Amino acid sequence: MSEIVNKKYIKRHKKGFIYFHWINAICFGVLFLTGLPLWVHALKPVYEALGPAHLQIIHRIFAVIFIANPIIALLFTAREGVGTLIREIFRFDGDDVKFLVKFPGELLGKEPEGMPKQGFYNGGERMNIALQMLIWLCLVASGLVMWLGGGLIDNSIRAWMIPLHSIAAGIGFAAAIGHIYLAIGVNPDSFQGMKDGTVKASYAEHHHTKWCDALVRSGKVSQAELDEAVRH
Ligand code: HEM
Repeated sequence: MSEIVNKKYIKRHKKGFIYFHWINAICFGVLFLTGLPLWVHALKPVYEALGPAHLQIIHRIFAVIFIANPIIALLFTAREGVGTLIREIFRFDGDDVKFLVKFPGELLGKEPEGMPKQGFYNGGERMNIALQMLIWLCLVASGLVMWLGGGLIDNSIRAWMIPLHSIAAGIGFAAAIGHIYLAIGVNPDSFQGMKDGTVKASYAEHHHTKWCDALVRSGKVSQAELDEAVRH
């Protein structure tokens, strides 16, 4: 069956991956907001008003979902989806380096000349994936040591988990803001992929040319179908 939908769109993300993405995004947001009053002095009144015990319970419930979500998603979307995220990191190549050199122009909403062809994910997305995975590991490891490590792990080591947890949360938040800006402000066509799983063929051909070439090579889409969808 062709990957083209309604003669204009290409199937990009599986439903399972879309659920994973939004559960991860919501968890990260709630964890950040419930953890923030602990570090930001100005938010102490919020902390007192909502009750530290309530914030802690919410933080821990969402932490469990944040930990389980990628593990469950990997079981269901190992071939495409989360499996693709992991494989894509190791595909970082010379074209990604060239892309990153020209990327600041794209960040400002321009269309830099001579952008190299990009695969399923571009160089910036590949870096975002690697960074988000590292941040997940740091948050989960430091969080679990603080939560369950009492009596098991030396207190001098546990004390280091506090700065590690907050630095990882801070970098993760900054990366998430950049990512949201790029998705909504710079490439709004990509956002449809996180809603119904499809993107405009014209967007895919322009921003992920190597991926489209691979779809044609594998016979999932014919060149004629792709050309027609791009024109639509
Ligand atoms: C309103 C919030 C968000 C929006 C609108 C959004 C949008 C998107 C879109 C459109 C894609 C697909 C890109 C493509 O198909 O090429 C994507 C992928 C992804 N998102 Fe989000 N996202 C949001 C929040 C988050 C958050 C909070 C995180 C992490 C904490 C996150 C992590 C990722 C990752 C790792 C990917 C795959 C690689 C990438 O595109 O960088 N997203 N997101």
